[in-house]
Amino acid sequence: MDRYAVIGNPIAHSKSPWIHAAFARQTGQTLRYEALLAPLEGFADAVARFRAEGGRGLNVTVPFKLEAFALATQRTARAEAAGAVNTLAFGADGILGDNTDGAGLVRDLSVNLERSLGARRLLLLGAGGATRGALLPLLGQRPTALTIANRTASKAEALAHDFAPQAGDTCIDGCGFDDLGGRRFDVVINATSASLAGELPVLPPGLYAEGALAYDMMYGRGHTRFMQTALADGAADVADGLGMLVEQAAESFALWRGVRPDGAPVLAALRRLIEAG
Ligand code: ATR
Repeated sequence: MDRYAVIGNPIAHSKSPWIHAAFARQTGQTLRYEALLAPLEGFADAVARFRAEGGRGLNVTVPFKLEAFALATQRTARAEAAGAVNTLAFGADGILGDNTDGAGLVRDLSVNLERSLGARRLLLLGAGGATRGALLPLLGQRPTALTIANRTASKAEALAHDFAPQAGDTCIDGCGFDDLGGRRFDVVINATSASLAGELPVLPPGLYAEGALAYDMMYGRGHTRFMQTALADGAADVADGLGMLVEQAAESFALWRGVRPDGAPVLAALRRLIEAG
């Protein structure tokens, strides 16, 4: 049976085995998908062992996405732009590295949440790996404007500068949170890791245009704190990152198996599972 796995540290609570088992059932594919805990200093060895045992591909999560990038012998354009790899596919002539996170985000926004991003003003909060991974796929939707705002403004400015050549007609800029005062956006995406420390990005009030969506890449039971704050500040709609998780998995599955699963029913079932605790 073809073997796949998600590799990370920690890994015990990963939802990926559940998601990929659901995709396999839905598409009638026969495969095995497990969770692999790699030692912090032993990522490359663990990948080599899995491959030697007949493994066909891996999803890669924290903290190994940069090491996976380095390990790949070929990389997709979106992996190059992200500077990180979350999907490895083993072939006879090498290891393909892809990054499906940004495509998963775009699919969740455009299909599951029915938000067209073209001709819209987007705000991305944060200037770390999560933001970098999202930029090329978001620019591909041709928003009017894409602003990156970060606690450390210089990092947002540098990212905007790096991606300007790929921005096409989109006006891309980077700034600090305070510089956002008086501006309005149609979609605001929280790609900071602030909530891991129980914090929130400190934003000026009134960022949400009429009908705006606030999207948190984090997820959990009920609304995240970012979603609650956004609703109080005038966002019309809110969403968490569970759909992004499912859709990045669907992209990886499609790369490996050549069949694209339908993420929506799997997302609905996973949501019920999480809400049930
Ligand atoms: P990731 O790969 O999850 O993006 P990262 O590369 O470490 O992680 O980046 C974390 C991002 O969250 C950064 O943009 C960071 O802001 P700084 O560049 O100023 O450090 C942002 N972040 C983390 N804690 C934050 C907080 N309490 N408030 C606002 N932004 C925060």
